Amino acid sequence: MVEVKAIILAAGKGVRMESDMPKVLFEANFLPLLWYPLEAARRAGVSDIVAVVGAGRELVEKTFGGQGIRFVAQEPQLGTGHAVMCAREALAGFGGYVLVLCGDAPLIREATLARLCAHTASAGAACTVLTSILDEPEGYGRIIRGEEGVRAIVEDREATAAEKAVKEVNSGTYCFRWKDLDAVLDRISSANSQGEFYLTDAIGLLIADGKRVDALVCETPDEALGVNSRAQLAAVSKALRLRVIDRWMAEGVTVVDPESAFIDPRAEIGVDTVINPFVVIEGPVKIGARCRIGPFTHVRGGASLADEVVLGNFVEVKQSRIGRGSRAKHFSFVGDAEVAADVNIAAGVITANSDGKKLYATEIGDGASVGAGTIFVAPCRMDAGSATGAGAVVTRNKTVGRGETWVGVPARKLDKGGRKNG
Ligand code: UD1
Ligand code: CA
Repeated sequence: MVEVKAIILAAGKGVRMESDMPKVLFEANFLPLLWYPLEAARRAGVSDIVAVVGAGRELVEKTFGGQGIRFVAQEPQLGTGHAVMCAREALAGFGGYVLVLCGDAPLIREATLARLCAHTASAGAACTVLTSILDEPEGYGRIIRGEEGVRAIVEDREATAAEKAVKEVNSGTYCFRWKDLDAVLDRISSANSQGEFYLTDAIGLLIADGKRVDALVCETPDEALGVNSRAQLAAVSKALRLRVIDRWMAEGVTVVDPESAFIDPRAEIGVDTVINPFVVIEGPVKIGARCRIGPFTHVRGGASLADEVVLGNFVEVKQSRIGRGSRAKHFSFVGDAEVAADVNIAAGVITANSDGKKLYATEIGDGASVGAGTIFVAPCRMDAGSATGAGAVVTRNKTVGRGETWVGVPARKLDKGGRKNG
């Protein structure tokens, strides 16, 4: 296999977002836009990734630092062609292929990237452009095909009426033989309506040099969708969201209403789990098999649910472990807790996990029964087989002992005769 590196263009400000935040940091289905092409490139087996950053550079580098990505700066941002020029030094002398990806196009798939590289190498092309056929091609560069392969890419702003009618668009993803691209970069001019150096002009220059340029149409047209505006952000977020849900349904998870389920791409869900309407699963959450989640449930942070856990209406679980068969069916907050197996958490239970500065843990042992309206002022614990009465407030550093029942405010042990002790 040929050696492949990647350049991700992420320096643009995103003027059409009307924001101070750099565009690639806008979130779509829980993660910043830039996360997606990075992940696709990594999954396609590319280990050397160069990200071109400019607008809001410090913030972008902070968000994606420590992941083995090389950052190069583009100051000022003079267009996509100029962005690639800024990556030149980082790729000096490289003899392989380079994938160029847009940081604002999160729907690109790893399999498509692999196909794009394989095609370029086997066809002996200097470049393969990934294209898509869109019913509404406005705003995208158009693919102008000749007798053989691609003749040029014309930007929407520069296109004639006839060119604007073309529905095949440039996805902004390409595979280049780096030496060939490097050889034409200096000849890209900025004589266009934007005064920018367009990477798309490299295509015409390669062809003029007698090189072969191919276009590969992606299998799912949405892979080309980019985010230039907040309306496009919403459209792309929805496509990403449904893609995650489709994947879990294919793997044996029931999603009752895909329109109202929100599942982070990093989450994992076991077979025969049912996700009811209006559920938000946020972050690298783990959910076991045969669980029932929702409606109106929020599972977040690094929460981990074993098999057969039931979380019902208006329950929030954050950064907690919940053991097999445990249940919290009605409006509760479980945060920073270790809940063992077969625990019943009745309605309206709250782990008061914060003193405003630090977070503290609540531990609940096997088979415990937490009475309705119990408040845990963490840190505190319930041992196996223990119980609390309705409205009990278990205060800091207290342990409800094995088999004991505690009631009241502050909660105290109930003796055999039913009186509170202590
Ligand atoms: C670009 C393509 C267009 C294609 C579309 C696909 C060019 C000239 N046009 O248009 O053919 O159909 O993408 O979505 O390439 N960027 C930089 N530095 C810059 C300018 C942009 O890093 O100086 C980055 C942006 O952060 C963004 C990407 O490059 O991630 C694309 O830039 P954008 O301005 O959104 O290009 P489009 O107008 O969408
Ligand atoms: Ca764009």
